[in-house]
Amino acid sequence: KRGYRSGLVDLRAGEVSREIFVNEHIYAEEQERIFARAWLHVGHESQIPKPGDYFVSSMGEESVILCRDRAGKIHVFLNSCRHRGMKVCRYDQGTTAVFTCPYHGWSYGTDGRLVGVPYFREAYHSRLDKEKWGLVEVAQMHNYKGSIWATWDPAAPGFTEYLGDFTRYLDLQLDGWDGREGQAEVLGGIQKWLVPCNWKFPAENFSGDTYHNISHRSVDLAGIGPSGAGRRDMGERDVSRKLHVCIPDRGHQTIHYVLPAGKSPPPAYLNAPIVAEYVRHCEEERRRLRGEEARLVGAPGEIFPNTALLSRQPRTMAVWHPRSPHQTECWRWFFVDRDAPTEVKHFLRDYYIRYSGPAGMTEQDDMENWNYAHAASRGTIARRYPYNYDQGSGTAVTNYEYQGLRVPGEVIDLTETQSSEQPMRNFYRRWAEFMEADDWSRLATWRGGERKAAE
Ligand code: FES
Repeated sequence: KRGYRSGLVDLRAGEVSREIFVNEHIYAEEQERIFARAWLHVGHESQIPKPGDYFVSSMGEESVILCRDRAGKIHVFLNSCRHRGMKVCRYDQGTTAVFTCPYHGWSYGTDGRLVGVPYFREAYHSRLDKEKWGLVEVAQMHNYKGSIWATWDPAAPGFTEYLGDFTRYLDLQLDGWDGREGQAEVLGGIQKWLVPCNWKFPAENFSGDTYHNISHRSVDLAGIGPSGAGRRDMGERDVSRKLHVCIPDRGHQTIHYVLPAGKSPPPAYLNAPIVAEYVRHCEEERRRLRGEEARLVGAPGEIFPNTALLSRQPRTMAVWHPRSPHQTECWRWFFVDRDAPTEVKHFLRDYYIRYSGPAGMTEQDDMENWNYAHAASRGTIARRYPYNYDQGSGTAVTNYEYQGLRVPGEVIDLTETQSSEQPMRNFYRRWAEFMEADDWSRLATWRGGERKAAE
């Protein structure tokens, strides 16, 4: 058995082997040990509002269909015919009464049941047990405030237990800007693109890489922010405590800001008065509804293993689908409050696209780094040398509180230290635990399971 803790992820030394990014055998094991067991983000219910609506998504390398059956129930199915494995749905999204396999014509209802078999009487003598040959459905599915998550593992803990204290941070993504529960809807289509790098490059970056500002310097200089002053016009950054937050036994992490007591975020979107007024109104409502909690302001984060959040500006989620050790398919969802005025939705759509995605200015910077870092790590010589994850060791605290607001998780206050690699260490510790643990009795350490931390 491979020594993930001792050999490849050595957090005491602050080192992670390049092999875990480029080695084909390790990649194959990841599919089995991580992507077949963890909870993965599939889509959002606003993408399938009516019975018969479907959206084809991915869980690891597997193509899956997220769909709403005729009774309105949401399902996630493996997109593979039970006869010879053909994709039963080759479109990105749409509406249908049945999924008819293009190869030999078996048909499945939107509830997954096998409902049509050509020559059923003649060729199968009516003996094929249709009940047994329906589409394969995920072991567990969870609708969390409209976002749909699933796992192939029946033994995995429930989704909210999997999230642990991270629920508070995911809520900022899915609740309304005015603090009302589950107000998010997906804005427009999903942006999808391929990057020639391992999936862990974007995953660790969104875990909280506050150290790569130099990569985005040109964006700051160009000034794509809503008030024309680059990304730095998000005024809350200047008046808040900036925190790294890790949920250590779950492997999730994020950057968040906490405003001082009694302070609201400085005005934003000043060159778009309708949007500025909408945001101001939402902030006021959020303070009224959520009180002190409204001081917590979202920024990038990562839910283990491969879902990234940006709950504020731009408000998006991304999934880093592994396609090979050397290729990642990035998918990005953009969110907006469902009852926001049309002008606000239009403005935010343009702003989000300009900021993120394959044509967005910041994402292009990141992609270039991941692409070349991966390429320069693949060689026989290069892969002998580990990466360094030593920054900011030993400075995390629990029960962090700032002017009366307690922040859940393990926190590093970046006000003085500026940057830390604790979130990445948290990510790779969890990665090693998944790769080594044979079952959830080891992985669910919060239930008393044995900790197999890589340090
Ligand atoms: Fe689907 Fe044969 S592969 S009907």
